[in-house]
Parts: sequence; C-alpha cells; structure tokens
Amino acid sequence: MEGIFRTRTQTTGQVQMTSHEILDHTPIFDSLLSETLRLTAAPFISREVLQDMPLRLASGREYSLRKGDRLCLFPFISPQMDSEIYEEPEKFKYDRFLNSDGTEKTDFYKEGEKLKYYNMPWGAGINVCIGKFYAVNSIKL
Ligand code: HEM
Repeated sequence: MEGIFRTRTQTTGQVQMTSHEILDHTPIFDSLLSETLRLTAAPFISREVLQDMPLRLASGREYSLRKGDRLCLFPFISPQMDSEIYEEPEKFKYDRFLNSDGTEKTDFYKEGEKLKYYNMPWGAGINVCIGKFYAVNSIKL
C-alpha cells in the first residue's frame, strides 16, 4: 500500500486508487489553492528577535530590532494584497501562479527585485506549517 491512497467517489461510491504521482502533479489545482489562500489566509506570524539588528522595509523605513523583542508579521497586506506584486490583487485568478507552459509561476517582483516570499498562507522559514502537505493532500482527496 506504500505511496497509494484510497479515495471514494461521491457519485458512484466506487473505491479508486490515487497515486502520489497524481497527487504531486496538479499544477492547475495548486495555483487555484495558492490563489484561494492568498485571498483568505491571514495569519499572524510571530518571531522572537535573537540578536540586535536593523530591519529595512521595502518602503525604505528602517527599524532597530533588539534582542528579545517580539516581531509580528501580517503578510496578508503585503505581499499578498500588494498591487505592485499582484495585478488586481483583490481579484480571484485561478491561474495566477501558473506560467503559460503550465509550470508553477514563482517569479514575483517588488521594486525590481525577485521575491523569495510572495505568498505566505503557511508561514515561512523554519517554523513553516508542518501540517501543510497533510492539509493540501486532504483537500485534494
Ligand atoms: C489550510 C490549512 C492550514 C493553514 C493555512 C496553516 C497555516 C499555518 C501557519 C501560517 C502557521 C505559522 C507558520 C509560521 O509561524 O511561520 C502554521 C503553523 C503550524 N501548523 Fe498549520 N496550517 C494549516 C493546517 C495545518 C494542519 C492540518 C496541521 C496539523 C495536522 C497544522 C499544524 C501546524 C503546526 C504544528 C504549526 C507550528 C509549526 C512550528 O511552529 O514549527 N497546520 N500553520
């Protein structure tokens, strides 16, 4: 049974087998889910500052972070609803995260710089949601 999921179709009640290869290659669905979460997931991401450091925002504003400070990020406003990164950010576009050749689009820019984090419904970095793959596969099944 390794690598195989059992699913049941609602219409016929038939048991079907769905392999990891199928679940892992669903670019249109992946784009649609990323777009849905871009518009709806609004987590607060909190971190403790481990050392004194400056933090410069894309706007040019600079903050001096001190060791022990608590930092709270709210990526829903930016990057997720940023009109410089996303054209018509308030609109749902199921193919926003798809290239024309059907591959995943990962090129998003702000002030000419390619962004590493452009959509963060699962958080980011070392504390990124560990339930992500379980959640995504549950939605797919
Ligand atoms: C659509 C569903 C979900 C969304 C949008 C979501 C989103 C998130 C976000 C934003 C974080 C914080 C990440 C950060 O601080 O950088 C997080 C953390 C976490 N999530 Fe999820 N999550 C989902 C489903 C799940 C599920 C199904 C599970 C478990 C079965 C789960 C378990 C966790 C855990 C344990 C953490 C803490 C990780 C850590 O601090 O190292 N999540 N999730």
